[in-house]
Amino acid sequence: MDKIIIHGGKRLTGEVRISGAKNAALPIMTASLLGAGVHTFHNIPNLVDVQTIKKLLSSMGAKVDTEGTTIRINADHIDHCEASYDLVKTMRASILVLGPLVARMGKARVSLPGGCAIGARPVNLHIKALQAMGAVVDLKEGYIEARAKRLKGTTIYFDIVTVTGTENIMMAACLARGTTFLKNAAQEPEVVNLAEVLNGMGARISGAGTDVIRIDGVDALSPAEATVIPDRIEAGTFMIAAGMTQGDVRILDCNPRHLDAVITKLRDSGMDVIPIENGVRVTGCETRKSVDIKTHPYPGFATDLQAQMMSYMAVAGGLSVITETVFENRFMHISELMRMGADIVIEGNRAIVKGVDHLRGAPVMATDLRASASLILAGLVAEGKTELSRVYHIDRGYEAIEQKFSALGADIRRIKA
Ligand code: UD1
Repeated sequence: MDKIIIHGGKRLTGEVRISGAKNAALPIMTASLLGAGVHTFHNIPNLVDVQTIKKLLSSMGAKVDTEGTTIRINADHIDHCEASYDLVKTMRASILVLGPLVARMGKARVSLPGGCAIGARPVNLHIKALQAMGAVVDLKEGYIEARAKRLKGTTIYFDIVTVTGTENIMMAACLARGTTFLKNAAQEPEVVNLAEVLNGMGARISGAGTDVIRIDGVDALSPAEATVIPDRIEAGTFMIAAGMTQGDVRILDCNPRHLDAVITKLRDSGMDVIPIENGVRVTGCETRKSVDIKTHPYPGFATDLQAQMMSYMAVAGGLSVITETVFENRFMHISELMRMGADIVIEGNRAIVKGVDHLRGAPVMATDLRASASLILAGLVAEGKTELSRVYHIDRGYEAIEQKFSALGADIRRIKA
């Protein structure tokens, strides 16, 4: 297995370009299942999760071609409405084929995702919403089997804000008979990007980006041509890294309006974050001040940046309280950070982080995607050598991360297995 080796202590300077958002690319690609014809999507990042969705769509009969960051999906013939356990277990977001398949093909068989490193993460709300729209759903041998002649529009209230749940049901409702209202819907920019793509296909969606989405069903959708928004989590990761290393980095091809919560916290911690054309310039300062963080669904502080922020707080001056409210078990990185000298105490869903003068490089292990990013950030400021194993997690969600950091002056390289 590959490893990433970092010698810490380098100040990051220069510019970095942000790739397309993984969490927008995945649902947008599955939206192609809703309409026959050739769909064209631009700014698709080259990530393992994107490869997994390509495999999944191909296994269903779609024809997928990639040319640079553009992908074409011909969804004329979908003859196998199934997402197998092998694919779903490597990527939970495979559940995003459920809504489109039931809506267009009238049936779907999708493996239940099961647990993952950051918690139980059930999909009960996806299933309940499809049932409310008239689908018959059975759970058999670890699979969700759903059938519906044609889904019916209705009002759905999500007990918990769910991003892929909102996306799945928004896609399904596009081809339903009548009007669907999604209440307590996720407001993430990726949901808005997907809604824009669907409207480009002829769907009638309004309210995306608020907590109530209205979808007036139509009889058929046509092929889409669309561009994926920049990855706000990748951008946030580079912002934190820039400030943490007391560097000066221009982060380009990103949309700072998607990062208000993060930028506010970074400024409070002493960083300068200045909007520039097509991005932001982030400058760190001598004294890194501690700030408290509480994760929330958008527009709150993203849970996907909690681990990276914790690495930053591990070397800030003072005490920081980091509260995770979205997932129940998203502190797996803490024990690894402590092996590097971080001073962190866990109290339920809160981590009390007391900043230390220095972290020390150590062999560490990635446990999930964002935890891996936090360990890389810690390695960038640690004294000596950090050796990160299980880097396949990072390849799921960050494009060419070591090349991008290396171009900013970090001493980081990958050792191939
Ligand atoms: C998405 C993102 C992920 C991010 C997360 C929260 C994608 C592909 N992934 O994941 O990067 O960390 O949003 O911002 O977009 N829940 C239920 N029942 C359900 C669905 C969810 O109880 O049916 C719970 C989950 O266990 C979790 C919370 O709701 O505690 C939010 O999860 P959700 O928004 O669904 O996460 P994902 O969509 O899987």
